[in-house]
Amino acid sequence: MKWLLLALLPLTALAQEIRPSQEFLSPTLRAQQEDPSRHPGWLWVDEGEAIWRRGENSCQSCHGDIASMRGVATRYPAVAADGALLNLEARIERCRVEKQGAAPFGLESEALLGLTAAVAQRSRGMPMSVPVEGPAAAFLEEGRAFYATRQGQLNLSCGQCHDANAGRRLRGDVISNGLGTGYPAYRLEWNGMGSLHRRLRACSLGVRATQFPLGSREYLTLELYLAHRARGMPVEAPGLRR
Ligand code: HEC
Ligand code: HEC
Repeated sequence: MKWLLLALLPLTALAQEIRPSQEFLSPTLRAQQEDPSRHPGWLWVDEGEAIWRRGENSCQSCHGDIASMRGVATRYPAVAADGALLNLEARIERCRVEKQGAAPFGLESEALLGLTAAVAQRSRGMPMSVPVEGPAAAFLEEGRAFYATRQGQLNLSCGQCHDANAGRRLRGDVISNGLGTGYPAYRLEWNGMGSLHRRLRACSLGVRATQFPLGSREYLTLELYLAHRARGMPVEAPGLRR
């Protein structure tokens, strides 16, 4: 297993630029990602927009039309006033609990995936520009260190696949630069929508390393680092993946 993988992955690092995730998709998938009528992820966007408007104390009652969320996803994860690092899902859950006084939707619930996709979609095509100064700086360094650490039985760091081997094939996939810009994404293998943290758990499992929980500090700081790596790259959510 290890031999096979290492044979597939020559560890000769080519100095490469980071490229948008869509450039690694097959032409078919890439075209489908751009076409709402052929992209099942749009069902979640539609549902998310319905939830946005629903009820007395709706998201809309404070924020107005969801169009007001334009650009928000380019700035997440972000540090809240109380010092917590929040990704878009966590920010929405906070509003759900603190502003709506309701029970949290729950990570990976269809409602939260839908709302997150609906909010993120409003930034589609806009360049990522997550702030990393001030209180975010320490979180960023944690994420950067995690990214560079060799992990699991296969003893591979994220960058050994997503930098050194981007563009090469692995088990039917073309390895991308490992950006989070397309999440939440509809993945055919999942037969549904999933978060970035769900995808990260799949990468951890792929190298036989510890899978951290959804919403864990490890994956949140990693998400911040991925967002910083992706600066200038377009938001693609909802992505479409095989
Ligand atoms: C009672 C008013 C209120 C309700 C209801 C509410 N929010 Fe908020 N929301 C806020 C305020 C105020 C902020 C600014 C941050 C803060 O003060 O906590 C915010 C911030 C946000 C942000 C971050 C915006 C940014 O620019 O960083 C998102 C995303 C968001 N809310 C989504 C939602 C969603 C989705 C819902 C419905 C599930 C919702 N909110 C319901 C008041 C509300
Ligand atoms: C053994 C190689 C390998 C390692 C190591 C690895 N990944 Fe991946 N990763 C993949 C493959 C293959 C995919 C699916 C194809 C793609 O999108 O790159 C993927 C997908 C992803 C994606 C989704 C990209 C998209 O647009 O759908 C992200 C984000 C990601 N990886 C991040 C990471 C991070 C962070 C680490 C380190 C914790 C990591 N990966 C470790 C192989 C790897």
